[in-house]
Amino acid sequence: MGKKVSRRQFLTYTLGSTAGFLASGMLFPMVRFAVDPVLKKGGSAKYVDVNLPISQITQEPKAVQFVIHRKDGWYEPENGESLTAWVMKDESGNVRALSPVCKHLGCTVNWNSNPQYKNQFFCPCHFGRYEKDGTNVPGTPPTKPLDKYKTKIANGRLLIGPVES
Ligand code: FES
Repeated sequence: MGKKVSRRQFLTYTLGSTAGFLASGMLFPMVRFAVDPVLKKGGSAKYVDVNLPISQITQEPKAVQFVIHRKDGWYEPENGESLTAWVMKDESGNVRALSPVCKHLGCTVNWNSNPQYKNQFFCPCHFGRYEKDGTNVPGTPPTKPLDKYKTKIANGRLLIGPVES
């Protein structure tokens, strides 16, 4: 014998599943936004010509700004998204491009900005520090090194790509 569904149960199931369906539609883009950083690790983001001749890159970190264009769900800023990389050459002459986003809670790090900690990246939010190669200084809040962007050279100029995985 079939079980009878009361009017109250029918309404509860119908409204519950409709609400669940609508919530999943709203939550998915929000979750995606939270876990999908602008230049996702290992992502398929393109390389951007940052208009910087390789000859102008020295061992002194230099803040380089560039713009990427990408669509995130339904949102695509008309003028793209502006990003920054700390660009320098390492001891072997290879180009290194570090993300300025602190691995503690996401503030922006600056090079050589605290006279107490010369030749380090410094995060003013909670005094996080990183060595020139992006390694986090033990005993300061960040527990991971700064992210590194992939780089390429084309026609003597620097191209910046996604964050290395
Ligand atoms: S956000 Fe950089 S140290 Fe906390």
